[in-house]
Amino acid sequence: MSSYIIEGGNKLEGEVNISGSKNASLPIIAASILNSNITRLYNVPNIHDTQITLEILKILGCKVTKKSDKIIIDSRKMDKTEIPEELMRQMRSSVVLAGAIVGRFKNTKISYPGGCDIGSRPIDLHLTGFRRLGIEVEEESGYIKCKCEKIIGNTIQLDFPSVGATENIMLASVLAEGETIITNAAMEPEIVDLQNMLNKMGAKIKGAGTNIVQITGVKNLKEVSYTIMPDRIEAGTFLCAGAITGGKIKLNNVNPSHLTPILHKLEECGCKIETQKCFIKLEAPKKLKAVDIKTMPYPGFPTDMQSIFVAVLAVSKGTSIIVENIFENRYKYTNELKRMGAKITVEGKTAVIKGIRRFSGANVNSTDLRGGAALVIAGLAAKGKTTVNNIEYILRGYEKLDKKLSLLGAKITLA
Ligand code: EPZ
Repeated sequence: MSSYIIEGGNKLEGEVNISGSKNASLPIIAASILNSNITRLYNVPNIHDTQITLEILKILGCKVTKKSDKIIIDSRKMDKTEIPEELMRQMRSSVVLAGAIVGRFKNTKISYPGGCDIGSRPIDLHLTGFRRLGIEVEEESGYIKCKCEKIIGNTIQLDFPSVGATENIMLASVLAEGETIITNAAMEPEIVDLQNMLNKMGAKIKGAGTNIVQITGVKNLKEVSYTIMPDRIEAGTFLCAGAITGGKIKLNNVNPSHLTPILHKLEECGCKIETQKCFIKLEAPKKLKAVDIKTMPYPGFPTDMQSIFVAVLAVSKGTSIIVENIFENRYKYTNELKRMGAKITVEGKTAVIKGIRRFSGANVNSTDLRGGAALVIAGLAAKGKTTVNNIEYILRGYEKLDKKLSLLGAKITLA
């Protein structure tokens, strides 16, 4: 397993280009299965999760070619519908491939994606949705088999606005007979991106970004070219890196409207924020102020930014209260932050953070993607050297993180 070695204390200054969104790319790559044609995708981040998803498409019989951030997927000759277990286990979000495969081939077999370090992450809402579409779903010994004669549009009420379940049901309904209406749908921007790409391909979907998504089944789809939206969590991560180091940075290729709750909290902490159509500027204060945060489904404060923001609050003046309302086990990284001197107590969904003057560099281990990112952010501001281990978790979701941070003046190397 590799590590980042970070010498803390440098203010981050300058400009950084944000990559395409990991969480928009994954369902959009899956959608390329539906058109049995050619799909050209631009601004796809070159990260472990997109690499794995493209590997799976190749195993299913798609032809995939990559030229820097441009991906060409030819799904005309796709002839398999079963996702290998070892790849399913590497990345639970491959479950959205199921909706696209069953949407086109009317059958699929996947292994149960299982949980990860932030919670059990069940997929009951996905499978209930499939059943409402007339898909037979059989769960046995860790496998899920889906099959049907045809997919019939229906109304589907989600008990929780699950991002993955909303995406999976949209993918399975594109070629269905009749109309599907998803109520209590997730409203994340990544779902709007998926709708826009599918409609460009010839699907008939409306309402993404609201809590009611309507999919009218169509018979044919066509080849499509699409540019992935910017990654709002990578953008939030760099803003927090600028804030914690007392820096002054500018983010290019971003959509500020996707980051509203994060920008408001950074301003509450004392940062100066300026936004235009596709850039965000941040100037940090000498000392950040404590703020309270509750993670919520979009447009609330995103759970993916919780750990990263906690690293900032751990060295802010005052006490912050965090409530994690989305995942039941998303504070594991706090034990590692405590090794760097953080004063954090966790009780169930709530974390209480008493700001300290400064982190001390230490040897710490990433526990998951965003928890690992939090440790990097802490290391940038720490006194002395921090070694962040198990960075494979971080490489899943951040493209060239060390290079981008170095360009802003951070002292970070890959070991
Ligand atoms: C997506 O995960 C994102 N991943 C996550 O980002 C993100 O944290 C999450 O949405 C919430 O915004 C991708 O898009 C690839 P959910 P997903 O279904 O779809 C429960 C990152 O760091 N639930 O909205 O898995 C679930 O247990 C990752 O980039 C059920 O109970 O999230 C959780 O408590 C981490 N049954 C809550 O809903 C289900 O069938 C939210 O999960 C599905 C979900």
